[in-house]
Amino acid sequence: MKNKILILTIMSSFAFAESNIGFLNNSKQITLNGKMIGDVSVLTPVEILKTENEKTDVLLTGYIQEYYQAKIVKSPQIDEEYMNFEIKEDINSYDGDVNPYVKVVDKVEDDYGEIWFKTQIKLTVPTSYIDIDPSMIYNQAKGLYEQTCSACHLLHEPNQYTANQWPSNIDSMIGLGFVALEDLDKNMIIKYLQHNAKDVK
Ligand code: HEC
Repeated sequence: MKNKILILTIMSSFAFAESNIGFLNNSKQITLNGKMIGDVSVLTPVEILKTENEKTDVLLTGYIQEYYQAKIVKSPQIDEEYMNFEIKEDINSYDGDVNPYVKVVDKVEDDYGEIWFKTQIKLTVPTSYIDIDPSMIYNQAKGLYEQTCSACHLLHEPNQYTANQWPSNIDSMIGLGFVALEDLDKNMIIKYLQHNAKDVK
């Protein structure tokens, strides 16, 4: 018995040291000096920096494409949306400038010769918006997907399509008038499908 307790203690302190990563359990509008600059999407992973008075400072890391700087995505290959900037006119200056709201930590070229900036942005969000374990939200998203998308045809397996194909699949179902979805529900379904897509491990 004593042994068991000891092992548990070691494991939990190890887990604590390892995981300062959390996941947004909701979408959240981001304001800077009172100005709305955009929104960060449900199920976006963030590094937790500091929690104080029900607010948490987090660091979001993702990629911005040189010629379309209005969104931060997971990687040049995976178009999973982490953050969307509203004030596009502030951002899309095409003279080699970078979106002024982010810090550039790296620059990479993809297979098509497009330049991507690896960027970081520090955000403050309500502590209640962050889950350490995202599995509950993914399960909720799965339920939502099965409920919304099984009315007319068999459900498509998430791994039938790539992460970059899923958003346009959903948009096409919406565009054809087959489904109507609130933004949060739509994003949750897309994130669930992308998380389990063909090209995502
Ligand atoms: C009201 C009925 C209806 C609902 C609800 C519906 N679909 Fe569809 N879906 C269709 C029809 C009809 C087609 C075939 C249309 C076509 O090929 O143009 C289709 C085709 C598809 C395809 C195949 C597209 C292709 O190019 O082969 C995918 C993927 C898909 N639906 C995903 C979804 C998802 C995800 C949802 C939930 C958000 C959903 N559908 C909800 C009617 C529906």
